[in-house]
Parts: sequence; structure tokens; C-alpha cells
Amino acid sequence: MSTNATSTGFSHEKVETNNFLMIVLILLVVAVGGLVEIVPLFFQKTTTQPIQGVVPYTALQLAGRDIYLREGCYNCHSQMIRPFRAETLRYGHYSVAGESVYDHPFQWGSKRTGPDLARVGGKYSDEWHRIHLNNPRDVVPESNMPAYVWLEKTPADDTSIGTHMKALRAVGVPYTDAQIAKAGDEVKGRSEMDALVAYLQSLGLALK
Ligand code: HEC
Repeated sequence: MSTNATSTGFSHEKVETNNFLMIVLILLVVAVGGLVEIVPLFFQKTTTQPIQGVVPYTALQLAGRDIYLREGCYNCHSQMIRPFRAETLRYGHYSVAGESVYDHPFQWGSKRTGPDLARVGGKYSDEWHRIHLNNPRDVVPESNMPAYVWLEKTPADDTSIGTHMKALRAVGVPYTDAQIAKAGDEVKGRSEMDALVAYLQSLGLALK
């Protein structure tokens, strides 16, 4: 028999020998512990406020970001520089949450078949990106990145970009009515290549 039973009759032995009670108490502890860790993140300025210099994507850059997601570039490229010396020497300042507050969904991750792209903006000329996306082997002979030959020939979608910006505004991206009104015109007549290159050239400039 238990020797440390209290006068109320509740002992630790009860918890250890009653599966149901054990499960309920474990769930309770995990739930409270999880909330204590997660809830403050929603209110911390470092995760909810953009750092200085971060502005929402222009209509053309946003159209390019849609193409980036559609083509699955994230399957080979992360946009998250980790705070290790080997990474910061290669890519620049490590990524901070305040750079991604307007990204829905954000592109953090660790899948790197190709290099991290968090700060690729301004690293190459627009022309380099066009040649590279058309056929990566033309500029990097050993590259195993696929060629995206259709981007140059396909017009970027100017019909839905305004609606997309409205949807982003609903989740906190501060687009103005004027920006949304002229979004279609900004994208009209541009190719998917133009849009994707505009997006790539905008990446990571705020902390460069
Ligand atoms: C199958 C994996 C794979 C996919 C998918 C892929 N890439 Fe790459 N990417 C690579 C590899 C490997 C490299 C390094 C060799 C090179 O520069 O081509 C690279 C390099 C790059 C670079 C140059 C980065 C630097 O700092 O030198 C850019 C920009 C880039 N990719 C953009 C894209 C975009 C945009 C897409 C989607 C349209 C894409 N990649 C899809 C594998 C991939």
C-alpha cells in the first residue's frame, strides 16, 4: 500500500495506476505548456511588425510570387538564412520574422537542393535571371534546376491580382484602395518572366 497517501485520499499512485486519469492529465499539461509557448508569439512585435524597410509586394512582384508558388520553386529553395556563421558568410544577414510579415504563406524552410533565396534580390541582373530561368545550364553548366521556358511566352495574370491584394489586405497587408485599383494595369502586358524576375529582385533587400 501507498505510504504517502494524503488525508484527502489522493496520491500520486492513483495517477500512475489509472490510465484514463494519466492521459487526461498529460493532455492538460501539454495543452497549457503549448499555449504558454505559442500565444505570446501572436503579440510579440518581432513576429508581427515589419522591420524597417519592408513594404508589401507591388502588384507585379506579387504576381511573380504566385508563379514562384505555382511552379514549386520552394521544393528546392528555402528562403530562410539560419543564424550560423557558414550561412551568414554565404548568404548575408540571417532571416528575421519581421521580414516575412506580409508573406502569406511565408517561404521559410530548410529544403535546399538549390541555394537559399532569401537575399537573392540585387545579386544578379534581370538579364541573368531571364537566361537562368529559360535554361539554367546556359549560366551554370552543372545546374540541375529545371528550365522554365514557358514563362517568357505566357502573359502574367492581370485579372485576379487586384482580388488577391484585397484578400491579403483582409489578413493585414496594408494595401491602399489606389494600389488595388491600378494593380491590373501594372501587370497587364507583362510576361510571367517579368513578374517572377521582379519578385526575385525584391527578396531580402531590407536587411541587406
Ligand atoms: C529541382 C530543384 C530546383 C527547382 C525546382 C528550382 N531550382 Fe532554382 N536552383 C536549383 C539549383 C541546384 C541551383 C544552383 C545552380 C544554379 O544556379 O542553377 C539553383 C539556383 C537558382 C538561383 C540562383 C541562386 C544564387 O544565389 O545563385 C535562382 C535565382 C533560382 N534558382 C530560382 C528558382 C526559381 C524562381 C525556381 C522556380 C521557378 C527554381 N529556382 C526552381 C534547383 C532548383
